Amino acid sequence: MPTKVLMVCLGNICRSPLAEGVFRHLSKGQDFEVDSAGTANYHTGAAPDSRSIAIAAKNGIDISNQKARQLTANDIATFDHILVMDEQNLQNAYALCTSAEQRAKIALLTSASGHEATHVPDPYYGDEKGFDFVFNLVHDCCKNWLKKHT
Ligand code: 4NP
Repeated sequence: MPTKVLMVCLGNICRSPLAEGVFRHLSKGQDFEVDSAGTANYHTGAAPDSRSIAIAAKNGIDISNQKARQLTANDIATFDHILVMDEQNLQNAYALCTSAEQRAKIALLTSASGHEATHVPDPYYGDEKGFDFVFNLVHDCCKNWLKKHT
C-alpha cells in the first residue's frame, strides 16, 4: 500500500500544487501517492497559478494539469500525512478532525521536514520572486521529508 501524502494550502493554486509536483518528482519510483487541496473553495476546478506553472516548468516539472479542490474531512480520514503550508492552514485542517489520531497526521511541511523556516509564505499577492522562494523552500522540505520517511 502506498503512503498517501496530501499537500494543503489556502487556495490550492500556488503553494500546494508546487508541493505536489515537487514531491511527485522527487519520490518517483517510491511507494508514495501525492495529492493537494486548499482549505478554501475560491478556486475549485482552476488550474494552478501561471506563476507556479512557470517556476515548476523551469525546473522540469509539469503541474499544468492539476485542478484545485477543497480539503474535506474525508481527506483527513484517508491520507496518512497531511502537510500544510502555514499556521492558518493548520488550524483550518484541525477543524475538520474528529479524533486525536487524525490531528496527529497533520503537520506544517516546514517543521515536519526539520526546516528552520516557520512556514511556506503565501506568494499570491507578490511577484515572481516570491514564487522562486516558495519553489526552493518546498523543494528543500520535500527532499528532507523524504529522507526522513524512506
Ligand atoms: P495558495 O495561494 O494558498 O498558495 O494557493 C493563494 C491563492 C489564492 C488566494 C490566496 C492565496 N486568494 O485569496 O484567492
